[in-house]
Amino acid sequence: MVRPSLLLALLITVWVCAAPARADPLLERFERWMGRHGRLYADAGEKQRRLEVYRRNVELVERFNSMGNGGYRLADTRFADLTNEEFRAKMLGLGPRSRAGRTTAPSTVIRVASGLAGDFSDLPKSVDWREKGAVAPVKNQGECGSCWAFSAVAAMEGVNQIKNGKLVSLSEQELVDCDTVAVGCAGGYMSWAFEFVMKNRGLTTERNYPYQGMNGACQKPKLKESAVAISGYVNVTASSEADLLRAAAAQPVSVAVDAGSFVWQLYGGGVFTGPCTTELNHGVTVVGYGETQEDADGDGGGTPGQKYWIVKNSWGPEWGEAGYIRMQRQAGAADGLCGIALLPSYPLM
Ligand SMILES: *[C@@H]1O[C@H](CO)[C@@H](O)[C@H](O)[C@H]1NC(C)=O
Repeated sequence: MVRPSLLLALLITVWVCAAPARADPLLERFERWMGRHGRLYADAGEKQRRLEVYRRNVELVERFNSMGNGGYRLADTRFADLTNEEFRAKMLGLGPRSRAGRTTAPSTVIRVASGLAGDFSDLPKSVDWREKGAVAPVKNQGECGSCWAFSAVAAMEGVNQIKNGKLVSLSEQELVDCDTVAVGCAGGYMSWAFEFVMKNRGLTTERNYPYQGMNGACQKPKLKESAVAISGYVNVTASSEADLLRAAAAQPVSVAVDAGSFVWQLYGGGVFTGPCTTELNHGVTVVGYGETQEDADGDGGGTPGQKYWIVKNSWGPEWGEAGYIRMQRQAGAADGLCGIALLPSYPLM
């Protein structure tokens, strides 16, 4: 007969021998991250592969942050287990994707001389439509290229609150399913969404036609259950941050940006200064603008007097600054940082 204490000793020996020779210091952090973002993997092999991607991203984050680049931070966001290629394929969605996986360019971008020298004296120094109750909680497009719908919906929610005093969360899924000019999760443009809502004489609520994160059959009866209607929309003059500022002082504005790089994927807060291109691939919404105070958060970081746009994204509230990104304004190029001034538009009511 084996004594229980001996059995225990035997078991401990077996366990110790089966454990890896050196514990992976990142594994615990990765598992905490998995818990935080509700991540589950199919098997141990996939988990190991994701851990290696996570490791490379964490190294990137730490190297970037230690250089103190431009006053913003990277973090192990909810996209930290994706390679940049995977991230680009999943999380964008401006413009219909062609078979080659490329985004087709918008048919016309009207370029006008730079408006950086515009007269801003009659505009407030800062505007935050969130403080005025014109911005719904941050939403999450999931793995669906429906950013165009989220961008347009946020602009419509904004103008409706400003005109009618009521914040009504509106349906992206109605646009994804029913706008036949766009191609649902395979992409679209905000102008197409506005044109759909004009033709349909309105858009229903999020509650009535909730988001699914995938293409579905258009629920035709709900097309008639309109909650908010628009009378038209305006394309802001391209390449004029002055015109964008004037528009954003009046209401939230749909804009397009290049959000494909790893610095968007891993953005953790602060005034974003790039790098990025002006090849537009993502729709977001400007919900205000401002300027950094002298060391506002007292951490000695950031540059005082830095002008920024307040941009609402649709990647959930865990990304960036509670789902928002502050993007440098008047960064020096007429097209704006990441092309933010290339394709702005806003709905009329
Ligand atoms: C806005 O611009 C798009 C092209 O980018 C164009 O198709 C659309 O007709 C324009 N709409 C208005 C109202 O000017």
